[in-house]
Amino acid sequence: PSQFCDAGIGYDESACGIPTTSSSSKILIKGGTVVNAHHQEVADVYVENGFIVAVKPHIHVGDDVTVLDATGKFVMPGGIDPHTHLAFEFMGTETMDDFFTGQAAALAGGTTMHIDFVIPVDGSLTAGFEAYEKKSKKACMDFGFHMAITKWDEVVSKEMEIMVQEKGINSFKFFMAYKGALMINDDLLLEGFKKCKSLGALAMVHAENGDAVYEGQKRMIELGITGPEGHALSRPAVLEGEATARAIRLASFINTPLYVVHVMSIDAMEEIAKARISGQKVIGEPVVSGLVLNDSWLWDSDFLTAARFVMSPPIRAAGHDKALQAALSTGVLQLVGTDHCAFNSKQKALGIDDFRKIPNGVNGIEERMHLVWDTMVESGQISVTDYVRITSTDCARIFNIYPRKGAILAGSDADIIILNPNSSFEISAKSHHSRSDTNVFEGRRGKGKVEVTIAGGRIVWQNDELKVVPGSGKYIKLPPYNYLFSGIDKAEANYLASLKAPVKRTIISKA
Ligand code: URP
Ligand code: ZN
Ligand code: ZN
Ligand code: ZN
Repeated sequence: PSQFCDAGIGYDESACGIPTTSSSSKILIKGGTVVNAHHQEVADVYVENGFIVAVKPHIHVGDDVTVLDATGKFVMPGGIDPHTHLAFEFMGTETMDDFFTGQAAALAGGTTMHIDFVIPVDGSLTAGFEAYEKKSKKACMDFGFHMAITKWDEVVSKEMEIMVQEKGINSFKFFMAYKGALMINDDLLLEGFKKCKSLGALAMVHAENGDAVYEGQKRMIELGITGPEGHALSRPAVLEGEATARAIRLASFINTPLYVVHVMSIDAMEEIAKARISGQKVIGEPVVSGLVLNDSWLWDSDFLTAARFVMSPPIRAAGHDKALQAALSTGVLQLVGTDHCAFNSKQKALGIDDFRKIPNGVNGIEERMHLVWDTMVESGQISVTDYVRITSTDCARIFNIYPRKGAILAGSDADIIILNPNSSFEISAKSHHSRSDTNVFEGRRGKGKVEVTIAGGRIVWQNDELKVVPGSGKYIKLPPYNYLFSGIDKAEANYLASLKAPVKRTIISKA
């Protein structure tokens, strides 16, 4: 048995995090630059029994403590990936990475927590939750759940209450695309937004106009464009912009906060920027593929090379990537996810004759921390403190688990990385930890390397070696009413007060 709390999902978390005492449960990280979202300083970090106990200069300890020298390196909160799909049954197949392999890959790349999307079973949230409880039994790092809403009735409405009040889910995703599968209409979107608001849960949208995408796909097939480039051509950025704008306006109408997942285009980003300037509470999440790749690969003459890059919304033409980076660096967009949804070549080959059958999804859970460091910090676009904010802290705040997660503070969970800015990384399917046989970031090198990952107070990644224990990861319940909800009731009261008293009318004119 692992020395971790093995309680896992469904158990009282307060019983967690107290492993039996052993040498590896006491760690001192010496001499590094400790970085939080708003401050950095040279200090030591002392960890015991899964928690950070002290952060200050010159901590002295006995010899039962594992000492890590972090001189010249950055000591930061482990990454939190707000958007993953592990063991996801989608488009007639299932993703290569499950809750063990996907998490192992994450840990090797400096991510120590992720939030995955529970998909209801035949519309049932309860059945979906139970299915994901089973899938996540092998977890080797902490995780939380969002939940998709795929149909609407009184049962679903009631189940949402149970999910929020009992099961630890504080966000629901509405798919405005994938017609005939996960897609919902505006009627459901409005019902869902109202329910989210009443529960203090965050509404999330996959923003593409699914009806128009369907039309675009037919158009491509009629033109004889059946290859992977047809995927991008059938669902242009204007359809992402339209759905983003629509979701934002409906969320404004209901007066509830909105989180737009995988923002892939300038069109969508500008809608979010406009809404934020107007004072609306909208969060935009770019994903690492959208930040560092462009669509040129989709025209590759090798089918499998091109098919690797098929995801939705599509990876856009060069220019969108740089604009998303700029938006992230200026706070227009707030945090980075991956949408890790890994399919191998055999699975991608399901769409050899028809791009509509290529399973949608790319990898990123292992690569995110390195690529964001290289693209955003090494390039000079953001500070190291902002790096911590966009890879960890803001995710913890939005999903309401800060400062337990997302901070190097006394009392926080001991999820910590040591990053060496003078070392370098190289990405390849030959060396990555995902089960997929390909990697959309193949061949990328850059500066900055995660040399040590500590998860739940244990060293799980060091000297390029993983030491992970299936079942050691904890399910983290996410409480409702994050900071975005403070003020919603005041705004609501002001709105109601602004409505003039109903006009008292009698018929005075002659017909
Ligand atoms: O292509 C994608 N993004 N696959 C995962 C499902 C989703 O829409 O997030
Ligand atoms: Zn000293
Ligand atoms: Zn999506
Ligand atoms: Zn996704």
